Parts: sequence; C-alpha cells; structure tokens
Amino acid sequence: MSKNVCLVGSEGKMGKNIRTVLAGDSFFGVLMGVDPYEEATADYISLEEVPVAEVDVVINFTNPKATLATALFCAKHGKPLVTGTTGLGEEELAELKQYAQQIAIMHAPNMSLGVNLIDAILPLLKPLAEEFDIELIEGHHRQKLDSPSGTALRWARTLAAAFNRRVVFGRTSGINQKRDMQEICVQALRGGTLPGEHRICFLGPDEVIEVYHRADSRLVFAKGAVKAAKWIIGQPAGFYGMKEVLGL
Ligand SMILES: NC(=O)c1ccc[n+]([C@@H]2O[C@H](COP(=O)([O-])OP(=O)(O)OC[C@H]3O[C@@H](n4cnc5c(N)ncnc54)[C@H](O)[C@@H]3O)[C@@H](O)[C@H]2O)c1
Repeated sequence: MSKNVCLVGSEGKMGKNIRTVLAGDSFFGVLMGVDPYEEATADYISLEEVPVAEVDVVINFTNPKATLATALFCAKHGKPLVTGTTGLGEEELAELKQYAQQIAIMHAPNMSLGVNLIDAILPLLKPLAEEFDIELIEGHHRQKLDSPSGTALRWARTLAAAFNRRVVFGRTSGINQKRDMQEICVQALRGGTLPGEHRICFLGPDEVIEVYHRADSRLVFAKGAVKAAKWIIGQPAGFYGMKEVLGL
C-alpha cells in the first residue's frame, strides 16, 4: 500500500522539487502540502488541519522556527520526520534532538548522495596532514540565509576531527600574519541563482588536491529527502543522518 506524505514548506524551492520527485514515485500516495505562502499554487493546509491519522511520514524544508513546530507536531502524533532545514542554532538543534527521544528524526543539511559520500571518505585523506593546508570554499544563490552552509560546517568538522585541526571563518582585514597550519579556513560566496557548490583545497608543497561537489539543481537534494522518507518509516525513535539512510 502506498504511503502518505505531509510536506511542510511545500511551496518553497525545495518543496516544489520534492513534489516533483514524489509525483514520479509510486511508493508514495497522497501528498498533504503545508505552507502559509500567500500565493500557494497547490492545495495546501496548515499544520493544525493535517488529517494526522493518514500521515505516514513528514518532510520539512522551511526555517528553524517552523522546523521545531513541525518536530513538536510529529512528536505529539508519533510521526517520523525528515528535515533538511539548515541554520539551526545549538539550542534549536538540542531541542530537535529532544524530540528524537520520542520519534525517528532524520536531519541533514545536505541530502545529496555526493556530498554525503565525500563526508564519509574525507578521513581517508589524513596522510595529507603532515604537509597540507586546508581551505574550504562554498558558494550559493543570493537568497540563502545561513552562512557558511550547513555542508561546509559539516565537512569542516569532519576534517577538523580527522586532521586534529580547528575551524576558522574567513580572514579579517588588517591582520598581518602568516597562515597557521592548524586552521581549516571556511569562506562563503553568495550570488545569483547558484544552487550550491563546495570545494576543499588541500594545498601542499608543489601539489594541490581538490575535492569538489556542485549541485546543478535542487533535485539532487529532493531525491535524497524522498529516499530518506522511505527509509525512516518504521525506524525506532532516534536522531539519524544521511549516513544511516545510505548505509555508509
Ligand atoms: N538539506 C538539504 O539538502 C537542503 C537543500 C536545499 C535547501 N535546504 C534548506 O531547506 C530550507 C528551505 O529552503 P528553500 O530553498 O526551499 O527555501 P524557501 O524560502 O524557498 O522555502 C521555504 C518555505 O517554507 C515555508 N514556510 C515558512 N514557515 C512555514 C511554516 N510555519 N509552516 C509551513 N511552511 C512554512 C515558506 O512559506 C516557504 O515556502 C533552508 O533552510 C535551506 O537552507 C536544505
């Protein structure tokens, strides 16, 4: 029997891409779109109006505040949640994890296959630690609110743990000193309609290695979200990431 999805943020850029992916997937049946967007084109309802008994899984791509409201809704009604919202502060993340004691929550700042595979293989590059500096540069469209991106933060943390280094953000004007090899420097570029690109540069003596990922459209994230939604139905309560979804 097909499963029903409640999609919170259904009128957003990600919401529209997820609707496209869901429309071509027979695993899923009814789609309940939730979005307060005033010019909503689809049939949409508010969270309070959702016929909860019919919901098998909730997908959320909105903002931190709406994400926590969605998590509360899911915990109250025992529904698994997939959320891709980025920009959650430490306290907001802690609150989200609290709800994961009651229900299964999959939270990932980037749901593309490539980005998650790269995160898994970064520790293999540890032999570069002796001689290579690490710089991480990411670029996104001009509308993106959070900076640096959740993916850049995640890769930077993975690298910091594997290479035993610390993460710094940008370079301040007026500072006149050589680069500290202990630093992994993260920089953000914003503009145009760029869906998202991330580049890690390993800069060594007479040798440069780059690890690069570019999303040409949001469909790559939407496919990941739908894959996660299939995976999370029936999972026990817990806080999961794409690592678990992809079996990495
Ligand atoms: N995890 C990933 O792979 C991934 C990929 C792309 C974007 N994102 C993140 O997803 C989030 C959304 O991105 P977007 O580009 O779709 O943004 P967007 O602004 O286009 O869409 C957000 C939608 O959420 C709706 N919304 C706001 N408050 C709501 C509420 N209380 N209830 C229901 N809907 C509400 C808005 O009306 C809007 O339509 C951002 O945090 C973005 O960084 C994550």
